[in-house]
Amino acid sequence: MFTWWAAGSEKAGLDALVGVFQEQHPDIEFVNGAVAGGAGSAAKDLLQTRLQAQDPPDTFQAHAGAELQDYIDAAQIEDVSGLYEEFGLTDAFPADLVERLSTEDGAIYSIPSNIHRANVLWANPAVLEDAGLDPSGEYEDLDAFIADLEELDEAGVTPISVATTWTQVHLLETVLLADLGAQAYSGLWDGSTDWSSDEVTGALEDFETIMSFTNSDRDGLDWPEATQQVIDGQAAFNIMGDWAVAAFEEQDKELGTDFVAVASPGTAGTFDFLADSFTLPVGAPHPEGTKAWLETIGSLEGQTAFNAAKGSIPARTDADPADFSEYQQGAIESFANDTIVSSLAHGAATPVATLNAISDATSKFTTGASDLDAFQTELATATQS
Ligand code: GAL
Repeated sequence: MFTWWAAGSEKAGLDALVGVFQEQHPDIEFVNGAVAGGAGSAAKDLLQTRLQAQDPPDTFQAHAGAELQDYIDAAQIEDVSGLYEEFGLTDAFPADLVERLSTEDGAIYSIPSNIHRANVLWANPAVLEDAGLDPSGEYEDLDAFIADLEELDEAGVTPISVATTWTQVHLLETVLLADLGAQAYSGLWDGSTDWSSDEVTGALEDFETIMSFTNSDRDGLDWPEATQQVIDGQAAFNIMGDWAVAAFEEQDKELGTDFVAVASPGTAGTFDFLADSFTLPVGAPHPEGTKAWLETIGSLEGQTAFNAAKGSIPARTDADPADFSEYQQGAIESFANDTIVSSLAHGAATPVATLNAISDATSKFTTGASDLDAFQTELATATQS
């Protein structure tokens, strides 16, 4: 079973799911093939190598949307719509989520385990108060946010923590969303928004400014270390998906007292969405084992145990909000009421090749190997292909 949930709160989420699997299928041996690296930064390349060598795992984690479509187009995964019938899942998930897992002819290629929100600002209210700032962390736009980053910088703390490239791309997507708005942000992925426009230039300038307020050790870190800087009060802010809530909760931190979690600056009312799902690869060595795993993933019990530990919300619509934390109850409400857009850094918005090209361009820019003009041109080229 192949994921990138290899350590910390992500592994705790996986362990909770495996606990349910072992109860439901005591006769099947679970083999954990997790490969470390947030957002699949190492796992996805390795998976591709295995799939091309006809050496697939029995099941692997894939993001709903464009990333899953890559595996469908390459004929690397099987249609599992028969399992939806067999496990009674046909009406268990929101229709637009199932659409992102399907082809037009009604084939469905994976079973979703959860829904995450990418546009969350995590803040340490004590650090904000010490700097004389509003501890709520709520910002209507990036100008107001940047003004406070300047204050924090003068106060001698890290204004905003970030980690290696994929987390910088994650930050970039929330900046594009804030400056362009939900509609024009979505247009970046279907060609209706021009990557060469002045609006995108303005967003990239804001990205450059925000990056200038981040920790200098960023490229050697993954998300848990960047989030930890907020937990420890070394940094005021971190923009990260809501898997981060599991890290705060694991360390007994209280929402509202020890940390705040709000829509990232300038994105209130929008839910930047991603979902993990699980597949049956073509040529899986133990398809009966896969089937059992997929049954657990789709079950109410599996989704409840997994998501309560992982920070995400269940993909199933019949889960009881009372089984989840205060943060998650808020996320369930936002998912129901907000405008939904697709995450770039987590496979919902673009194919893997496009994301890789955007990541390379971002890394060149943030390490000083290209200037803003070149960055914008490279982003435009990456998305044309
Ligand atoms: C995302 C994934 C989440 C979480 C995160 C950090 O891509 O969908 O479940 O694992 O990466 O690694």
